[in-house]
Amino acid sequence: MDLEILLADRLAWAFSAVAGGPVDPVVRRSQHADFQSDAALSLARRLGRPPRDIATEVVGRAALADLCSSVEVSGPGFINLTVADPPLGSLLSNMAADARLGVPPSANPETVVIDYSAPNVAKEMHVGHLRSTVIGDAAVRLLEWLGHRVIKANHLGDWGTPFGMLIEHLLDLGESEAAHELSVGDLDSFYRAARVKFDADDTFKERARRRVVALQGGDELTLRLWRLLVGESEKYFLTVYDQLGVLLTENDFYGESYYNAMLTPVTDELDRLGLLSDSGDAACVFPEGFTGRDGQPLPIIVRKRDGGYGYGATDLAAIRHRTRDLGATRLLYVVGLPQRQHFEMVYAVAREAGWLSPPTRAEHVGFGSILGSDGKMLRSRAGGSIKLVGLLDEAVTRATELARQKNPDVSDAAVAEVARAVGIGAIKYADLSTDRIKDYVFDWQRMLALDGNTAPYLQYAHARIRSIFRRAGIEQFTATPITVGHPAEHALALELLNFGTIVTGVEQSLEFHRLAGYLHTLAATFSGFFEHCPVLRAEDDVRESRLALCDLTARVLRHGLYLLGIDTPDRM
Ligand code: ARG
Repeated sequence: MDLEILLADRLAWAFSAVAGGPVDPVVRRSQHADFQSDAALSLARRLGRPPRDIATEVVGRAALADLCSSVEVSGPGFINLTVADPPLGSLLSNMAADARLGVPPSANPETVVIDYSAPNVAKEMHVGHLRSTVIGDAAVRLLEWLGHRVIKANHLGDWGTPFGMLIEHLLDLGESEAAHELSVGDLDSFYRAARVKFDADDTFKERARRRVVALQGGDELTLRLWRLLVGESEKYFLTVYDQLGVLLTENDFYGESYYNAMLTPVTDELDRLGLLSDSGDAACVFPEGFTGRDGQPLPIIVRKRDGGYGYGATDLAAIRHRTRDLGATRLLYVVGLPQRQHFEMVYAVAREAGWLSPPTRAEHVGFGSILGSDGKMLRSRAGGSIKLVGLLDEAVTRATELARQKNPDVSDAAVAEVARAVGIGAIKYADLSTDRIKDYVFDWQRMLALDGNTAPYLQYAHARIRSIFRRAGIEQFTATPITVGHPAEHALALELLNFGTIVTGVEQSLEFHRLAGYLHTLAATFSGFFEHCPVLRAEDDVRESRLALCDLTARVLRHGLYLLGIDTPDRM
């Protein structure tokens, strides 16, 4: 059981007795003691009593003697709690003996659909797709670990009018040449070349238009060419996922085309419900409460006059499919902030149509942009958009140089393995350690620094603990009882016992920077412990207990980083 929850439970009981009804004791970590509760202050008005009186009565009633060495009322009515060492020791011993590190699976497991990554066929993945992929991957890992049934939905952009020009361009190039260009990941120049012809050449434009009609009509040859385009792009995206070390596979592609057969039934249903209106050019839905700058209601375009369906229609079909057919009760959309309004409108329509009702909910897990050092959107030196693979390659190259400098005598293979973990880890961590709704500046120096809130710092902290065991000649450490005595052990214990609270907080908020920040504080607190408390030189039981603290810290760091998608090499 989590320390914070344990304390809150005991206080909640005393507070309710005093207040005559349930009270959240609002327990949190404190500068002045280990924890504090501020609930007496907010209760004062309701009960018409001075907050100090309330706090004093609560302290008198609360059964905290087995957990706390001191419980004090301070200032206007705060309750300061200092946890005693013996219960810290036994809570830690339990945590160490548990393969789940004291974090039980969710009591309310759900089916969660995570819509993320979603690059576009025959287009390069850009840094926005990087953010979606990295954040979505962390969400998958964390929610799966907590026992939820997670469906990874890679909403690939694999359908729509651009495919007319892309297929015609493919025919011009010849199939094998086109396949070659696409398989080496030269997606942008393929797309650009098609675009140039489309804009400059009217006969090409007409061919493209007719090709779209053939594609929508299910023409065999056209479909085969379309599949070729999609297949080559998918293969390429899979190599990027592999390089990134994320969990996405070929089974997770649920591209826009997956919903094609649902589009007509969905439109019919919207029509029957009276939600569809004809705006001249297209059949649209106007969800309640969305207006443009001019005060006019905003539409989601469902079916265009030519019979084609758009991005919005596909998202409506997808949300209906996910709640109705897949039985999901939580839908996450990991997509950049510019698309926030689009999703709010999709959810609104789904609610009006009865496809999305409590407890089922949809959440836009939005994120900001990645900026260059000039504070503008990250661009290549030539001013174009940055290729994701280029970035990943550079990260590994830079990490290889660092690893070489640090360990000149290590084998190339060992260096390569560490460099991959560090380089890719640094990129992911830089992303996940900042509040996702904010923009962040992409800075090689900072993300690869061995000190600071970085992946290399945490990976190094982990490897350093593992090296203690190597030095002691211990291959497999078996958990032994932990006793807490030294103030630095006390401080480390409080951090370790906070892991579950952090993880369950992120389960709801999907604010991974809170997990990252926690791991960073844990590593820093461990340094303090290691500085003040000899481990291998300590005697008997103290040595064993401290080794157990080291091992537990390493396991929490390793698992915490795993949840963020970051590897932890044993040596660095
Ligand atoms: N392919 C889109 C893009 O690159 C992202 C799709 C997001 N997911 C969705 N269900 N619309 O912007």
